[in-house]
Amino acid sequence: DTLDPTSLRTPIVAVLGHVDHGKTSLLDKIRGSAVIEGEAGAITQHIGATAVPLDIVSTIAGDLVNPDDFDLPGLLFIDTPGHHSFTTLRSRGGALADIAILVVDVNDGFQPQTLEALDILKRSETPFIVAANKIDTVPGWNVNEDSPINATYEAQSDRVSSRLDESLYEIIGNLSDEGFSADLYWRVQNFQRNVGVVPVSAMTGEGVPDLLAVMMGLSQRYMKEEMEIDVAGPGVGTVLEVKEEKGFGTTIDTVLYDGTVRADDQLVVGGQNDPIVTDVRALLQPRPLAEIRTESRFEKVDEVSAAAGIKVAAPDLADAMAGAPVRVVRNRDLAEVVTEVEAEL
Ligand code: GTP
Ligand code: MG
Repeated sequence: DTLDPTSLRTPIVAVLGHVDHGKTSLLDKIRGSAVIEGEAGAITQHIGATAVPLDIVSTIAGDLVNPDDFDLPGLLFIDTPGHHSFTTLRSRGGALADIAILVVDVNDGFQPQTLEALDILKRSETPFIVAANKIDTVPGWNVNEDSPINATYEAQSDRVSSRLDESLYEIIGNLSDEGFSADLYWRVQNFQRNVGVVPVSAMTGEGVPDLLAVMMGLSQRYMKEEMEIDVAGPGVGTVLEVKEEKGFGTTIDTVLYDGTVRADDQLVVGGQNDPIVTDVRALLQPRPLAEIRTESRFEKVDEVSAAAGIKVAAPDLADAMAGAPVRVVRNRDLAEVVTEVEAEL
């Protein structure tokens, strides 16, 4: 409702898991399906983040997501690296997340960073589901591109589907060893108590409709109240990374989780020493469907609302810290905002 200043923001979904288990491929698949559907323009890509609007979720998920059943605007996915040296980035992604997808390769099963990701989710009490990825690699798999899981399951021979079941039950067993009661997602009644496992292939798109439907349903059912924000209010976010950008000097890649940032806003950013008080010089968004981490592909925008990923260029950011808070001052008392940022450091 455009007249109501309070509105529902996009839930932030962190994608976590062991190296090479298919996190980026899964997001690529979701982005790619949108291109194929001719809806490329409607997907906004942000820094290390991809916003997928509800109508696109519904296009990809088909019968599994009726847009009339939802009033959340979509999902903002945050990709994280699985390599063991990136613990900090994973925790940061985990801390920002409202919900998460833990990606597990069905052949490889639980690995060190799978366990580490589970630990992050446990500590932050983030609800999550497990994407059991690469189901197309089960020997003898009969591919049904972009199909919901039940349809492709039915198209497999008994031998192939029992082979997959074995891998899935192993994952369910591993989750149970870690203290999570889990089951195949279609058997889960209460996603707050039980972890749903969704078999998928990031390569063939099988199960991706289910994955999106489950994430959307989970958000709508359990997150709705937390998503009520004053979208027009002063923006609040977290610095993901501090980066040099040609022509702009030091910039901060930020995930905005509340309110709006405008190109003429004053900001307070957590720094190595004191909070930094600065003025936005430019808000930079990668162009739609540009490769996320390709630099130089930015578009200047006048404002951006939560939840979103945005690169902020401003003077005096050299001491800005990854993981630190970012707050828009606008019509608030500067000293008060500085105190808030200090308290969060
Ligand atoms: P990091 O970011 O390094 O942690 O890896 P990642 O989890 O993002 O994995 P990525 O998406 O880069 O995939 C790793 C490899 O697995 C690539 O070669 C992919 O093509 C392959 N892969 C990912 N998903 C699937 C799948 O569903 N099926 C098959 N056959 N291969 C896949
Ligand atoms: Mg990746």
